[in-house]
Amino acid sequence: METNRIKQPNGKLGVLIVGLNGAVSTTFLAGIFAIRKGLAHPIGSVSQMATIRIGKRTDNYFPFIKDFVPLESTNDLVFGGWDIRDENCLEASRYAKVLEEKDLINVADELENLRPMKAVFDQEYVKRLSGSYVKEGENKYDLMLQLRNDIKDFKVKNSLDRIVVIWAGSTEIFIPINDVHNTKESFIEGMKNNDTDIAPSMLYAWAAVSEGAAYINGSPGLSADVPAIIDLAEENNIPIAGKDFKTGQTLIKTVIGPMLKTRMLGLNGWFSTNILGNRDGEVLDDASSFKTKEESKLSVLDTVLQPEIYPELYGNFYHKVRINYYPPRGDNKEGWDNIDIFGWLGYPMQLKVNFLCRDSILAAPIMLDLILFTDLALRSNMKGIQDWLSLFFKSPMHSQNSVPEHDLFIQMMKLKNTLRKLMNEDPITHVDSNATKIYEDCYE
Ligand SMILES: NC(=O)c1ccc[n+]([C@@H]2O[C@H](COP(=O)([O-])OP(=O)(O)OC[C@H]3O[C@@H](n4cnc5c(N)ncnc54)[C@H](O)[C@@H]3O)[C@@H](O)[C@H]2O)c1
Repeated sequence: METNRIKQPNGKLGVLIVGLNGAVSTTFLAGIFAIRKGLAHPIGSVSQMATIRIGKRTDNYFPFIKDFVPLESTNDLVFGGWDIRDENCLEASRYAKVLEEKDLINVADELENLRPMKAVFDQEYVKRLSGSYVKEGENKYDLMLQLRNDIKDFKVKNSLDRIVVIWAGSTEIFIPINDVHNTKESFIEGMKNNDTDIAPSMLYAWAAVSEGAAYINGSPGLSADVPAIIDLAEENNIPIAGKDFKTGQTLIKTVIGPMLKTRMLGLNGWFSTNILGNRDGEVLDDASSFKTKEESKLSVLDTVLQPEIYPELYGNFYHKVRINYYPPRGDNKEGWDNIDIFGWLGYPMQLKVNFLCRDSILAAPIMLDLILFTDLALRSNMKGIQDWLSLFFKSPMHSQNSVPEHDLFIQMMKLKNTLRKLMNEDPITHVDSNATKIYEDCYE
């Protein structure tokens, strides 16, 4: 099905990944190459595996999302990116130790052929990493221009139609929004003056949006989430989305939190702790990077539970999030949630969740979905922040006059209704048919 408002995905889509050699990126890439060869299914990918109901339930029409909206095919993605280490993606995958050799061997050639471009990096922003494979420049503005050239060259060399840039790089230190981020002019000035509040991830975002590429931020740092870059995206008709892939504990939190509120059960406290031993864990072991992650993870419950509206239920809950770097676990994170709730007459109850997950296995399909949906937005002239992609983020970017949506199932409804709208189909409201009938009898 097509609409003439959406440009068809003709030609190839370039995907430039910041942090090309990271655990999430290489797991994503190995998966895509395996899927292309028919060796795997895109498990966990909404764009590839989920269906969407069109019309009434009784119409019995549930096409796959990928057949309903004109998404780019996974065969037509061309990959590139940047990293601070000069190694190919096969070496990087082996270093990450997420996938077993039996899965890497089938896609070894494709991974070996992928090598990053030099990064824009400064250890000031990721204290636990050091890298020599980095660009040098007169100032941040000059570095940003070098990134723009990389994007331009990649597009021409590979005869690409469009580009999506996605940050899957490390979590940077916490930076609050301030004056330098507020206008395009102050931001440009700041880049020229090497303002310390302009992090490398912001330079990638500015470069992408200036080059007409959609931009996605998979980490919790601000990156594109500053007024100057949001304005630039609006002006250039570019979609941007972020922040922080919603994978393990927060995924669970945005299901259990709404459940408590739906049934008006109270909450006394929620303690979340986990252990992980990958490089992301090592980076987050530094207090300034952890603070960025903590902000992202903590925001969820307040928005879901609305303590200001329900003070008796949620006015006084204690929320703590801990991340512990524990090398023996590698990418196989283990999370524990202890949730103290209360019910009728205030009687206390507890919920315990022990999630033995795999970080990058959960994040990889999110990368695919975000790339394909953001490209759809680019072809549909959907500019600025893409709230409808909040399903995939821990800390969804949202416009100033709206609040972020965290409830996983509302997020899914929002995504599907947006797709329906794009394709000129009616949104689904789930109104009971009895109510519809009463309304029609009274007013029609
Ligand atoms: N794995 C998950 O479940 C998950 C969930 C949510 C968010 N994230 C975020 O995704 C990001 C990637 O996670 P990961 O586990 O792959 O981490 P990782 O440490 O394995 O990979 C990050 C990569 O980014 C590179 N890098 C750092 N700064 C860079 C820069 N300025 N330019 C280019 N490359 C740079 C590093 O060298 C590394 O290869 C992190 O920010 C993490 O917080 C991961």
